[in-house]
Amino acid sequence: MEDRTIITVNNLKTFFYTNQRCNKAINGVSFKIKKGKTLCIVGESGCGKSVTASSIMQLLPKLSRIEEGEIIYHSDKGDIRIDKLSRNGKEMRSLRGKDIAMIFQDPMTALNPVYTVGYQIAENILCHEKVSKKEAKERTLDLLKDMGIPFPEQRINEFPHQFSGGMRQRAMIAMAMSCKPKVLIADEPTTALDVTIQAQIFELMDKLKKENDTAIMLITHDMGVVSELADDVAVMYMGNIIESGTVEDVLKSPSHPYTEALLKSIPILGKGKNQELNPIKGSTPDPYDRPKGCQFAPRCNYASEKCSTMPGEEFVSETHMVRCFNHELVLANRKKEVMANGK
Ligand SMILES: Nc1ncnc2c1ncn2[C@@H]1O[C@H](COP(=O)(O)OP(=O)(O)O)[C@@H](O)[C@H]1O
Ligand SMILES: [Mg+2]
Repeated sequence: MEDRTIITVNNLKTFFYTNQRCNKAINGVSFKIKKGKTLCIVGESGCGKSVTASSIMQLLPKLSRIEEGEIIYHSDKGDIRIDKLSRNGKEMRSLRGKDIAMIFQDPMTALNPVYTVGYQIAENILCHEKVSKKEAKERTLDLLKDMGIPFPEQRINEFPHQFSGGMRQRAMIAMAMSCKPKVLIADEPTTALDVTIQAQIFELMDKLKKENDTAIMLITHDMGVVSELADDVAVMYMGNIIESGTVEDVLKSPSHPYTEALLKSIPILGKGKNQELNPIKGSTPDPYDRPKGCQFAPRCNYASEKCSTMPGEEFVSETHMVRCFNHELVLANRKKEVMANGK
């Protein structure tokens, strides 16, 4: 079978340097994004989801840099080492927005307030493809229509501030989709939106995936979204992927105590309002003063002495990876609990 991997990330380390201190924000992360599939990255705030995304886009904040590892884009014309490209060089700029596009949590990071929405989308098309202005405008109009934006002929000439939050988000998605990217990275794209618009936006992303074989990396902290949209899942904690696999692997056989805790902290649809929810105890450690070894150990019920060294990546099946010395125990407990009370 053809290898459907479009992006390979190998042992990525991205560090921040502030006031002579180093935050190992991403500390050895490996994963693959596959054509026509959705990889969901989950984990609580500050665990490194956005920094992972901006490493791939080479849009890192000033004080950070890729310290080690590889990011490979498997393009039609051969492999490209993204981590070797200069951040704002010609090659990176030609990939960004064309081959790899990104949807941000805040649409105003991508939209410029002083240009009309239509101009900005058409500009992205003109920048990457040899088409006439007229053609670019027509395609922009079609995109706005596809996004379900009412009166697109009028909206195309309006400025971002004249759009509502949900409309702005759609306009940004239209821009991200305008060149039919091979990879779409969506960083919590719907956190600020209400649920009906959220559902519509996920539908649009799904359509892009099905029609163009686009690979999607979807960042979320919402396990409900994961269960609905993911093909593959990677769970992050303090700069590491602590568990990954297919959506079945991770949701049906969670083997890391942190994944288990995440799953227990969400309500289950249809179970009524009296269900017991268990917030994860403790709080995330100071990123500048990290625990030795397993980063989750200070909050973990299973922690033992050996957890003061970092557990390596262990494959419990061909697709399912976990970094925990006690993963067998965790899974066994989970199965027992599910048998007992269906959760
Ligand atoms: N611009 C920045 N300056 C300094 N530190 C940052 C910056 N952006 C992120 N970090 C640090 O990098 C780590 C990962 O952050 P991030 O990827 O934004 O988390 P999240 O999973 O919430 O997206 C955190 O420890 C955060 O404090
Ligand atoms: Mg983030």
